Amino acid sequence: MKKLISVLGIVGLMFLVGCDSSDKNEAKAEAEKSDKVLDVKVIDDGSGHELIDFQQQVLDDAKRFKEFYTSRRPDVDPADFNNGVYAIDSAGREQWEEIEEFPPYEFAVDEGKQLFEIPFPNGQKYSDCFKNGGIGIRQNFPYYEVKSNRVVTLELAINDCRVLNHQQPYEYGQGDIEKIAAYMSFTSRGKKFNLSVPNEAAYNAYLAGKKFFYSRRGQLNMSCENCHMGAFGKMLRADMVGPAYGHTTSSPIYRAAWESIGSLHKRYVECNKNVRAKPFALQSEEYRNLEYFESLMSADLTINGPSSRK
Ligand code: HEC
Repeated sequence: MKKLISVLGIVGLMFLVGCDSSDKNEAKAEAEKSDKVLDVKVIDDGSGHELIDFQQQVLDDAKRFKEFYTSRRPDVDPADFNNGVYAIDSAGREQWEEIEEFPPYEFAVDEGKQLFEIPFPNGQKYSDCFKNGGIGIRQNFPYYEVKSNRVVTLELAINDCRVLNHQQPYEYGQGDIEKIAAYMSFTSRGKKFNLSVPNEAAYNAYLAGKKFFYSRRGQLNMSCENCHMGAFGKMLRADMVGPAYGHTTSSPIYRAAWESIGSLHKRYVECNKNVRAKPFALQSEEYRNLEYFESLMSADLTINGPSSRK
């Protein structure tokens, strides 16, 4: 805990000291500098109205996000950032590669395949709910569904399929739903994310996720950015802090600490709890928007889930 506080002490100090208004103005200028999403790109469609080019905004953000990591670790192949902390932690990597030779998620993938293939009582199957029969499509998630005005994650789509076929939705986070997700991800390995920001509502969901990522919370008053950017590559107790670029490619993960396969949102809960913040519900709007933001920031990486972690 001491180390954790010392890593972030400097950032904390900046906040404690910032009492008079000139400091506040400086802090505000700093914040604006780092939040370049404020320089809005417009499209001239000839009508005299200015339209914001949402997709371009996000691409610009993603370019800066990636550069943050690649400029700090030019020795790492940028495509390798889909391996999380193992892209930068050479000691941990060796052990991880050994584990991946007999991957602990193998049973989950096999069971997921069986669950995926069993028809519902009405004769319909999961494969009827998804494009391409659900095979090799994980890279299309999360997407913004315009008709329902929400970010649809893979897990949400699996449960939507169940409800459509008069089945109880699964509980989120672990168990059968993550086994099915593991199987579907496995069939999508090596595919690049294929994501988009179709309209203003989608862009707002993206911005909500972005805001979540940069907002301080909890008793420790820390944001995702404080650790996964500010302390990137540093040690927090026994753990090296990995990049957020690539956070969403390898889910679901088999975590030794969980002794089972679990979801990305389950990890979000842990990271929220680690700063003593109240976590949100799995698959809540907040976490789905956060996943949308993190995925769009990692959109030029390839899917490699499921994966194993400590
Ligand atoms: C106190 C520091 C800290 C904060 C704050 C924090 N994390 Fe983490 N997080 C870690 C550490 C340490 C790990 C384990 C090493 C790694 O994978 O980076 C981790 C792991 C993760 C992982 C798993 C990565 C993988 O490859 O399996 C995800 C996803 C994640 N964090 C997301 C977040 C998000 C989103 C936030 C903000 C809500 C956040 N974290 C806030 C320290 C933090």
